[in-house]
Amino acid sequence: MATPHISAGSGAFADTVLLPGDPLRAKFIAEQYLEQAECINQVRGMLAYTGNYKGLRVSVMGSGMGIPSCSIYARELYTEYEVKQIIRVGSCGAIQGDIQLNDIILAMGACTDSGVNRARLAGHDFAAIADYGLLKRVADQALADQVPVRVGNVVSTDLFYAPNGDLMDRADQMGVLAVEMEAAGLYGVAAEYGAKALTVLTVSDHIRRDEQLSSDARERSFHSMMKLTLDALLD
Ligand code: HPA
Repeated sequence: MATPHISAGSGAFADTVLLPGDPLRAKFIAEQYLEQAECINQVRGMLAYTGNYKGLRVSVMGSGMGIPSCSIYARELYTEYEVKQIIRVGSCGAIQGDIQLNDIILAMGACTDSGVNRARLAGHDFAAIADYGLLKRVADQALADQVPVRVGNVVSTDLFYAPNGDLMDRADQMGVLAVEMEAAGLYGVAAEYGAKALTVLTVSDHIRRDEQLSSDARERSFHSMMKLTLDALLD
């Protein structure tokens, strides 16, 4: 069994797949957090691994950047590999003034300037939301570990290099926490196939204040997001 974009065999993926944007991040997560990790896909360099985290079988795979790339992999994982839940682990740019670099955001909902979810709902607005059970698990874990998280809306944009428009101003006024490029697509695919999804993000930059994390600081905040997310999956 293989799909146009994934060469892994049947049963090669665990029920839960972590989905960073960068395939080299997937490799790093496999090497850093998973035991007995095995590489199960290299098509287009979109590396995927399955291994064990404290005894739980987990997979990790790159999604590429943007809704189209992420949606292709999510759809094939849910429909061809019977994956039950996908958790995007990524970075975002903060919009709200009270969010700082390094903060962790759980994307309860995802707005978008993409047309994909309207296409799914006959031209109407689909409220792209995380799976409540997954969201609660990670939020509860954060409470137990005393890791501060923000839970709310993000905006998944198609244009990283956006012209000066008012999307970010309006998003700011409407309480949208941060901008990234995949969550709304992932949630749309999950809804379409009756599967579960969540997006967990670290704030790598602040788009209103022109601030960015150094690469060292990025590594540290990435670690707290990964530990939180993986521990939340354990019983
Ligand atoms: N825009 C879109 N996606 C992002 C950003 C951003 O500023 N930062 C991290 N992911």
